[in-house]
Amino acid sequence: MASGYDTKTRGLAWLHRCLADERAEYGLAFNPLRDAFQKAPEDAYAELRRRSPVHYSRLLDCWIVTRYEEVAHLLRENDVFRSSPHTTTQALVDPYATLDPDRPSLFMLDPPAHTRLRGAVREAFGPEAVRRLTPHLEECVRDVVQRLGRPGDRVDLVPRFAGAIPLRVLDLVTGLDMHGADDVTGWVSDIVLGLEPIATAQTAQRALTSYRALGKYLDERRARPAREGSLHWSLLRSVRAGRLTDAEARQLLMFLVLAGTKTVSDFLASAARHLSALPPRAPERRHVDSALVDDLIARVSPVQIVARTAAVPTVLCGRRIRAGQRILLVLASANRDLAAGAREDGGETGTGRARRAVAFGGGIHRCLGAHLARLEGRYALSYLLERFPEVRLTGATPSRRCVTLRSWDSVIVHL
Ligand code: HEM
Repeated sequence: MASGYDTKTRGLAWLHRCLADERAEYGLAFNPLRDAFQKAPEDAYAELRRRSPVHYSRLLDCWIVTRYEEVAHLLRENDVFRSSPHTTTQALVDPYATLDPDRPSLFMLDPPAHTRLRGAVREAFGPEAVRRLTPHLEECVRDVVQRLGRPGDRVDLVPRFAGAIPLRVLDLVTGLDMHGADDVTGWVSDIVLGLEPIATAQTAQRALTSYRALGKYLDERRARPAREGSLHWSLLRSVRAGRLTDAEARQLLMFLVLAGTKTVSDFLASAARHLSALPPRAPERRHVDSALVDDLIARVSPVQIVARTAAVPTVLCGRRIRAGQRILLVLASANRDLAAGAREDGGETGTGRARRAVAFGGGIHRCLGAHLARLEGRYALSYLLERFPEVRLTGATPSRRCVTLRSWDSVIVHL
C-alpha cells in the first residue's frame, strides 16, 4: 500500500486529469489542494452535500461522504465499514497507516482487538475519573492563563495557551510528566500531519521520524517509577497480570498522547479565535458553559474527517462502493448539515443537537477523551475570558495542507 500524495511520480498533469475526469462524471470536482479549500473547507463541503453527497474523489482515490444522515449511519455500521485500513484496495492511504503497521493505533482496530484494548483504558477517561481530576485540571489551566501576560500584551495563543494546556492535562491522567518537553508538541504536530490524505512524501517521512522520536521519549518516560493511580501505573499492572503485552501498553499510551493533544489544542485555538473576535460584551463571551463548548466543538469540528474501509460491496445514495474502497466521513460537514436541518425544523434544542453531533465520532470508536476535552475547553476558555475580559483578536493564520484537522499556525490577540 502506498502512502502520501505522491507529488514526484504523479505530478500536475495527473492531478489535472483526475479533476477533469471527476468533473465529467459528477459535474464537479473535489480539490482540497486549492487555496479556496484551505481558507473555507465548509464551502466545498456544502457544495458536495448539495450536488454529490457520496462522491468519488479520483485525486484522493476514495469516497467522500458529507451528509449527516449517511455519516451517522456509517459510523454505527462498524461490521461493514471497518476501521482497519489494511484490507484496502486503493493505491494511496494516509501515511499514518504505515507508521507502525504491526502495532496499529486503537482507532485503526476492529473488534475483537479493539474491544479488548479500549477496555484497558476506558475507565481512566470515564465521567468519574474526570470528576476526580477536575480540581487539578482547574489549577493547571489557571496557571497557564496567568502566565500569558498582562492585559494589553500581544500574544500568540497557539503555543502559549492552546498548545500548552492539553499536554499538562494529559500528564494528570497518564502520570508521564511530559509537559516540560518542548519537543513533544512538535513531534505530535508532525505525526498527525501523517493523517492527511494529501500528505506529501516529505510529510510522510517527517511523520515517521517524529513518530520514532516520540516513541523513544515515551520509552524513557515509561522506564521511570509509575505514580500510583496514573494510567501509566494501571497499564503496568495490566501487563504484569498478563491482560496486555508491553507492546500493547506502549502503543496505547503513544496513541493517547497523539489523540489527546493536537485535537484539544486545535479546538482551543479555533474557539479562542472565534470568541476574541466578538465584541467584549457579546453574550457568548460572558459565560462559557458546557452547552456553549459543545456548540463550539460541533461548529469547529477539530477532527474534520475519519476514514473507514468497506468490508463488502455496498450501495450508498445510489453509488456502488466496492469492497476494499476507502471512505472519508466528513464529520465537519455532517455537523453543519445537522445544524442547518435543526434551523429549518426549528424544533430541536441546542442540547439535543449537541448530543447527535458527530464531532467526537460515533459508534464503537466514539472519542474516549470526550468528557476530558469538553471540561478542558470549558475551563480554559472561561479563565481566558475572566482574566482578560477585553481580549481582542488581531490576526490568525490557518495551517496549510490540512484536510483531516482544522489547525491554526497562529492566533494573535491583545490580551
Ligand atoms: C476536542 C477534542 C477532541 C476531538 C474533536 C476528538 C475527536 C475524536 C474523533 C472524531 C474520534 C473518532 C475516530 C474514528 O472514528 O476513527 C476520536 C477517537 C479517539 N479519541 Fe478523541 N478527540 C478529542 C480529544 C481527545 C482526548 C483529550 C483524548 C484522550 C486523551 C482522546 C482520545 C481518543 C481515543 C483514545 C480515540 C479512539 C477511540 C477508539 O477508537 O475506540 N480524544 N476522537
